[in-house]
Amino acid sequence: MGNLEYERLHENLKTLGLLRTSESLDNYLEVASKKDMSTIQILDHFLNEEVDDKMQRSLNFRSRKAKFPFKKSIEEFDFSFQPSIDRKTINGLASMKFVHNAENVVFLGPPGVGKTHLAISLGMLAVKNGITAYFTTAADIVDDLKMYSSRGMLKERLRKVSGYNLLIVDEIGYLPLDKEGANLLFQLVSKRYERSSLILTSNKPFREWGQIFGDDVVASAILDRLLHHCTVVNIKGESYRIKDRKRIGLLQREPTDNQQKEE
Ligand SMILES: Nc1ncnc2c1ncn2[C@@H]1O[C@H](COP(=O)(O)OP(=O)(O)OP(=O)(O)O)[C@@H](O)[C@H]1O
Ligand SMILES: [Mg+2]
Repeated sequence: MGNLEYERLHENLKTLGLLRTSESLDNYLEVASKKDMSTIQILDHFLNEEVDDKMQRSLNFRSRKAKFPFKKSIEEFDFSFQPSIDRKTINGLASMKFVHNAENVVFLGPPGVGKTHLAISLGMLAVKNGITAYFTTAADIVDDLKMYSSRGMLKERLRKVSGYNLLIVDEIGYLPLDKEGANLLFQLVSKRYERSSLILTSNKPFREWGQIFGDDVVASAILDRLLHHCTVVNIKGESYRIKDRKRIGLLQREPTDNQQKEE
């Protein structure tokens, strides 16, 4: 190959953004000629590398955009610690069918039982499967929507947030919502209804959602849409955080008077 063609080849690879091929071209061509590889084998190798690279880059991009507060996987979840969870249900959700069918998931349960862990695990699996996801908390998304609403840009913001295939709204119920907040969450759920999936987590049973939203009518309108196509995972059990504290001995009983006297 002449110098001119060689230079042009590298230039063209760069212009097309095929940087991986540009970097490994010289080495690989040498190996290919020693191994007497066919042109098809050589092209196949370079294109495979480029496709792998592109997929990795878009996975990294989706992961960054998803804003998960920490990384957790289903494999890291100890199902034996939380027998109230049906593993088959979680495995079914892990197939991502619920996202393709624009269905919802709600994790309910007291603190520390793994609601956020499972929500993030499903979100991370979604991202791995080419699905766009976004993680937020009820308090954060309400603040965010309020800010856009005050600038007269609520419609645009709702459209943007609804653009994610999967939206995770964590911690519904830890902070009560005012009228505007409740209304904004209703609009969000309404906009996504039957179009795209939501995963919600809450420490409060549905019968108490009227108190969270400060309004029984808004709460039941939200629940009506949310639960129409929904898997509810009701977790009843001990906090995993307490398990950890027990393990390192922080939750041992206070010494009794007798024990103190003996010391
Ligand atoms: N069954 C489990 N197996 C492994 N780790 C767990 C399990 N349950 C919870 N954890 C871990 O315990 C910690 C608390 O769990 P998580 O944050 O998911 O609880 P939560 O139900 O969201 O609680 P909160 O309502 O207080 O937000 C996390 O680090 C999580 O990874
Ligand atoms: Mg949580």
